[in-house]
Amino acid sequence: MGVKTEQLLEVRHLSKTFPGLKALDDVSLEVAPGEIVALVGQNGSGKSTLVKVLAGVHQPDPGAEIALGEEGRAGLHFIHQDLGLVGMLSTIENFDLGRGLGRGALLPAPVHDEARHAEELVAGFGARIDVEVPVDRLSAAERTIVAIARALDGWEHDRNVLVLDEPTASLHGEEVEKLFTAVRRVAARGAGVVFISHRLDEVMELADRVICLRDGRLIADVARGEYDHDDLVELIAGEALTAAEEVAPRAHGGPVLRARGIGAATIVAMDLDLHAGEILGVSGVLGSGREELAGVLFGATPGEVASLEIGGTPVGRLDPRRAIAAGVAYVPGDRRREGAVMRLSARENMTLPRLRPLRRAFGRLDQRAERREVDGWVERVAVRPAEPERALDLFSGGNQQKVVLAKWLRNEPKALLMDEPTQGVDVGAKAGIYELIANAAAAGAGILVCSSDAKELALICDRVLVMRDGAVVAEVERSRLSEAGLVRAGLGGAVASGQTSERS
Ligand SMILES: Nc1ncnc2c1ncn2[C@@H]1O[C@H](COP(=O)(O)OP(=O)(O)OP(=O)(O)O)[C@@H](O)[C@H]1O
Ligand SMILES: [Mg+2]
Repeated sequence: MGVKTEQLLEVRHLSKTFPGLKALDDVSLEVAPGEIVALVGQNGSGKSTLVKVLAGVHQPDPGAEIALGEEGRAGLHFIHQDLGLVGMLSTIENFDLGRGLGRGALLPAPVHDEARHAEELVAGFGARIDVEVPVDRLSAAERTIVAIARALDGWEHDRNVLVLDEPTASLHGEEVEKLFTAVRRVAARGAGVVFISHRLDEVMELADRVICLRDGRLIADVARGEYDHDDLVELIAGEALTAAEEVAPRAHGGPVLRARGIGAATIVAMDLDLHAGEILGVSGVLGSGREELAGVLFGATPGEVASLEIGGTPVGRLDPRRAIAAGVAYVPGDRRREGAVMRLSARENMTLPRLRPLRRAFGRLDQRAERREVDGWVERVAVRPAEPERALDLFSGGNQQKVVLAKWLRNEPKALLMDEPTQGVDVGAKAGIYELIANAAAAGAGILVCSSDAKELALICDRVLVMRDGAVVAEVERSRLSEAGLVRAGLGGAVASGQTSERS
């Protein structure tokens, strides 16, 4: 501390050692006023650890110097990977927390004004959110918007650094554009921005400079113009990746899941047929119904399904326990809330959904077989570090996601319902996960992939349903699939390429 600097943020010789692991190794970097810096690197390379040290969540190893602006006057504002909202509180109350005590803490709050203010802030991102319900009841994407709006609310001056840890993981094209507009606006006013993302087209679009970490070391610090998309892939993956192979079309069997009259808060009335061996995508902007669909079918999200058949057998409305028993698996968009138990080990998380049937069959678990099998999955989805006994909380975000995916894939479900399956997964590991999804389909599972990432859907799906305002507005077969077409259709345009040129 105490260094004088023209920069808004200057970090020198920052290391961070966790028991048995050096997460950051002698990292030095700076952020100038008005500059947007992208921080990239593989899952587990140390990005979030760097952010958490800056935020004071982690104490750095001795010897680090961190300077904030002239005379330390710059402020840091964070949007963490897990957003840092208090689930039981409403959007309004979360905004209050963000401001700290003071205004409104003792005085009875002018409720109407606060609600209006909060609504205006989230409306700036094109979202209509009930600002008075607990944020726990909002979708992952809506909570992201609340967190972003909160971080941008009420800056006293512009000598700030805004740090965003994967803010776009659950946002669709249009919302991403709104976020980028907001980010550019604060940078234009002189703030610095540090921005973590695995979506390299976003990095290409937004960043003035890219800093890449690998195994905790800073391996590149390059200005815009000095790199192209392929260079970034190579920096991150450590080698040039061959383009992810397109999934070959598969023969489809009969429907593994037939649902009629699906309804939910954002879904009006929808039918769905998912076939054995099929990878069916669902695209759409925030609020289109895309984020609720998988959860409603599985019975984890409030809603209704007038009639539902699994493997040709009518089942009533599912709840998660009955869904699992019927052979339906669900990878939720919000792993913290529904997908995983953070305190348990990766191994325990991966064996959780199977515990019951195994116990019933053998009286107790065959621990050694279980252990071997989990080790195999840790290898297959490339969990790093490959230590199944570690608590899930101690893995990086992308590696937690791999554990959640493995847990469901290893159950060989009839129908696998996924929401944002590769959120937070780095470019290298993504290809491996697509391959596992394709293998599961080839083995006969029907797979539903709801995703805000149109590129991902265009790459892996046999067919994609585009949702808007709670209903399917387009159905696109593999031969006509394109990223741009999906984005266009989600916004109300035509699927076929042509006239318009919206940016994705
Ligand atoms: N509290 C902790 N205790 C022990 N190890 C930790 C802790 N937090 C993170 N790690 C380890 O530190 C390394 C860096 O993790 P970090 O979360 O910074 O990665 P990341 O670059 O943000 O990855 P991702 O892209 O997956 O989010 C990982 O190996 C992770 O397992
Ligand atoms: Mg991270």
